Amino acid sequence: MTETYENELRARFGLDLELGEMPDEPWLRRMLTRRTQRRYSERAVPDSLVRLLLAAAFSASSKSDFQQASVIWLKERGRRERLAALFPDMPWIGAAPVFLVFLGDARRLEQLGALRGPAQANGALEGFFNAAIDGALAMQSCILAAETLGLGTCPISVLRNRIADVGEILRLPDKVFPVAGLCLGYPAQAGFISMRLPLDATVHLDTYDDSRLAEAVDGYDRRRDARHSIADRQRAPERFGTAAFYGWSEDKARQAASVEGGGFATWLKAHGFSFSEPGSEPT
Ligand SMILES: Cc1cc2nc3c(=O)[nH]c(=O)nc-3n(C[C@H](O)[C@H](O)[C@H](O)COP(=O)(O)O)c2cc1C
Repeated sequence: MTETYENELRARFGLDLELGEMPDEPWLRRMLTRRTQRRYSERAVPDSLVRLLLAAAFSASSKSDFQQASVIWLKERGRRERLAALFPDMPWIGAAPVFLVFLGDARRLEQLGALRGPAQANGALEGFFNAAIDGALAMQSCILAAETLGLGTCPISVLRNRIADVGEILRLPDKVFPVAGLCLGYPAQAGFISMRLPLDATVHLDTYDDSRLAEAVDGYDRRRDARHSIADRQRAPERFGTAAFYGWSEDKARQAASVEGGGFATWLKAHGFSFSEPGSEPT
């Protein structure tokens, strides 16, 4: 059986991408139309199912097989409520049937050194970066596994905006940091597919070339606006004015200009990360 993925690609990119006939794979169709879900039904998610999803999460590839991802499964109601209360704008943090926190864990590798002999400090940029990537890959693997079974998820990086409080609630030791939380549950609604930038803007052939970015982004903004306008939700007009056309790129430029995640670098430095070159740290 073959498939052109025409409908899925149009849904994802708002474009007619003609790839021709390809092998038909339902899982790929599902992935192309995947979406974040922030509202969940009452339907319980059994612990055994969460464990299966965690097993899938930890099947993700891992830099050097160092396995520097960890997860906190936040089951204690009071602790979850303390965490959720920090982010009243995102009620799904407290309401989701399951809440996981994916961690970058640069501590465990140091502990292996302590257990087996060759001591090494793992707080260089390399240690942070590898642990962050392992945590992110594990989270995305969990997301895709969950979606395959009809569950919905929402990553929660806003945790980093209150990192000192989050670190205390989760009792994070040095060199362990949240990549993101993950809400998990059966979706209460269909949700919508968030259109992506065209591959022209994100895929470079042989060498990096963004000389046609403005054109690609203009087209994308218009396609996205035609599907789902955000014109009536202009961000901080008192600071940036009111745009005649308000599309994704205007919105993201404004969002990026407002400081988010402040304090994270300071917290990481106070919790064991030097961000130096590898080998330059005292052991
Ligand atoms: C690392 C990461 C952190 C995120 N943090 C949040 C968050 O704190 N709150 C939230 O509501 N959504 C969060 N999201 C969800 C994104 O907003 C969402 O993935 C994006 O809008 C694209 O939508 P889609 O996943 O439905 O395609 C996060 C996603 C990622 C990958």
